[in-house]
Amino acid sequence: ADIRQFASPLLVPPTMPRTRRARAGGGFVDEYVISVRQFAQQLLPPELPPTVVWGYGPAAGGAGRSGHSAPSMTIEAEHGVPVRVRWVNELVDESGGYLPHLLPVDPTLHWANPSRRPGADGVARTDVRPDYTGLSYVPPSEFTDPETQYTTYTGPVPMVVHLHGAMGMGDESDGYPEAWYLPAAADLPADHASHGSWYAYFAEKSRVRFGVPWRPGEQVAHYPNDNRDSTLWFHDHALGITRLNVYAGPAGFYLLRGGEHGEQRILDRRTGRPAVLPSPAPGTAPGNGSRPTYEIPLAIQDRSFNADGSLFYPDTRAFFDGYPGPYAPETAIAPVWNPEFFGNTLIVNGRTWPFHEVEQRRYRLRFLNGCGSRFLILDFGDLPGVRVHRIGNDGGFPPEAHDLAEDGLRLLLAPAERADLVVDFTKVPLGRHVLVNLGPDEPFGGGEPGVDFEPADPATTGRVMAFDVVPARGRDLSTPGEFLVLPERAPFDGEVRIRRLALLEHMHDIADHEVEEGEAPAAAMLGVVEGDPRTRATARALTWADPVTENPEVGATEVWEFYNLTADAHPVHVHEAPFEVLDRRRIEVEEREYVVGIGPSLGPVPGGDRGLKDTVISYPGTVTSIRLTFRNPGQFVWHCHVLEHEDNEMMRPYRVGPVQP
Ligand code: C2O
Ligand code: CU
Repeated sequence: ADIRQFASPLLVPPTMPRTRRARAGGGFVDEYVISVRQFAQQLLPPELPPTVVWGYGPAAGGAGRSGHSAPSMTIEAEHGVPVRVRWVNELVDESGGYLPHLLPVDPTLHWANPSRRPGADGVARTDVRPDYTGLSYVPPSEFTDPETQYTTYTGPVPMVVHLHGAMGMGDESDGYPEAWYLPAAADLPADHASHGSWYAYFAEKSRVRFGVPWRPGEQVAHYPNDNRDSTLWFHDHALGITRLNVYAGPAGFYLLRGGEHGEQRILDRRTGRPAVLPSPAPGTAPGNGSRPTYEIPLAIQDRSFNADGSLFYPDTRAFFDGYPGPYAPETAIAPVWNPEFFGNTLIVNGRTWPFHEVEQRRYRLRFLNGCGSRFLILDFGDLPGVRVHRIGNDGGFPPEAHDLAEDGLRLLLAPAERADLVVDFTKVPLGRHVLVNLGPDEPFGGGEPGVDFEPADPATTGRVMAFDVVPARGRDLSTPGEFLVLPERAPFDGEVRIRRLALLEHMHDIADHEVEEGEAPAAAMLGVVEGDPRTRATARALTWADPVTENPEVGATEVWEFYNLTADAHPVHVHEAPFEVLDRRRIEVEEREYVVGIGPSLGPVPGGDRGLKDTVISYPGTVTSIRLTFRNPGQFVWHCHVLEHEDNEMMRPYRVGPVQP
């Protein structure tokens, strides 16, 4: 069945209510209690059924939906005022019993498996090297039920929250993939571990640092908010199940404002005085109240639906070569995990193809690519007369506003990347205009839409949302994008070492499994590059369970080089340490395993990659160099943000400073 487009108004998430602003050592701390719950939400147009999803919201109040939504309300954070959140796993029903996953869990991955060999202390040992390969391919006979053809997991759901883009945190607050925890359910099966192997260590560390004990079924995170004014987002990060947990809905914006690199420090080039950004009406947070808001965060995600409105996610690899309509899952075959997933609808802030009324004036639109696998190329070309300036990316304001006209009004956004735009609708004719997506409905390899790859289906995933342009209701006092002078940032320097890191395809010697004709590739992995890549170096794959190989000292600045030996582009995300992109070069690869030469630089870093980043696209057959400083000791992760990849060995732990007691 067709899903009617531009049938529902855009939702602008209101501000998440905090529990209180408390005094803490000469300053303040903003406290929140936020839980994840299951509820029904109208993602599809009103004539179609609602969808059962998960989402975060204020934990106070009864079961079910009470301010919970997908995406959730937005956390408004102030520079220098730490935020402390109790994140509660409330995936339980009215009687307090645990809820199973909404989507097919693949038990053959290395994942946060609560039923997997709990030790004597009741903790699942997922940090030890698994007895199977650690990759997805497990002979079906070992794991499958002859009836269903795969083993599904129906137990309680492990979760852990990561604030993407946060820095300056202790590792206890970072949402480490093995610090997951189950809901404090009344009927937790006795043979299930209640939390992952790193949970107790972080709980104790947090208790000592902040004097806040963790209760069963929750984590407490303390975000210092000393990074730059930027667009952050929070989402689930449980090992090997993140793709499913995030697809089910739990995610939200976290807008950090203020400080010496804050929006108040942006100047108007014409006057040298503070510039004015399109913003919420004074005294109102975005989305709150009835006054219009000119600043809107927009989370774009892709989803598919079953006929009853439920979320569709494949439980078979039969879909690898393209997905049929939303209503026709085929017979399941093992294994369950897919290398990528592309939904056949786009949702913006939790609604399929919404519309939004905009005045003929400037808006600040803060885009997030919240898709699991899909690279987006937003095309503003169908809005005649529009002007677009990019004033921010992952890590805040870049050195200068970038006029998107230089890129043909196109904006490439990999999964997890953000773009903060001043979009000027002043000269856009009245009426409806559609924001187009030219990214592919399949893995992205770089290049030009229509030349190097086929853009998304222009009738469905090639459309994002509609803007209904109406006359301006008042004077637009905001500064045009071309006159914005953004706050400076001191570059990192004095790097002490270069680390050569690899993105590579499934290695047979690790998987101990020969890939057969016609079989989907097992997985992409991370690893290290050993030797001199200008002559001959070997890329060696490492699993999640292998010992840490990246161990910078506290305070060290390093250059990390990502050698991509795979056929696809991967968005590489480093936790905790924002970075600057230095350079991209082509590499020569032999036998998918050896780097035997490095070409010249591919040119200046593109506009969207200038400034501070936390996620960067690594293109096939290239090396991408970044520079970063590690300020805080602890155990963090770096990974590919294609969630399907991250869930299957495209993630590695790294550690800053010494091993902690
Ligand atoms: Cu947005 Cu490690 O994740
Ligand atoms: Cu990847």
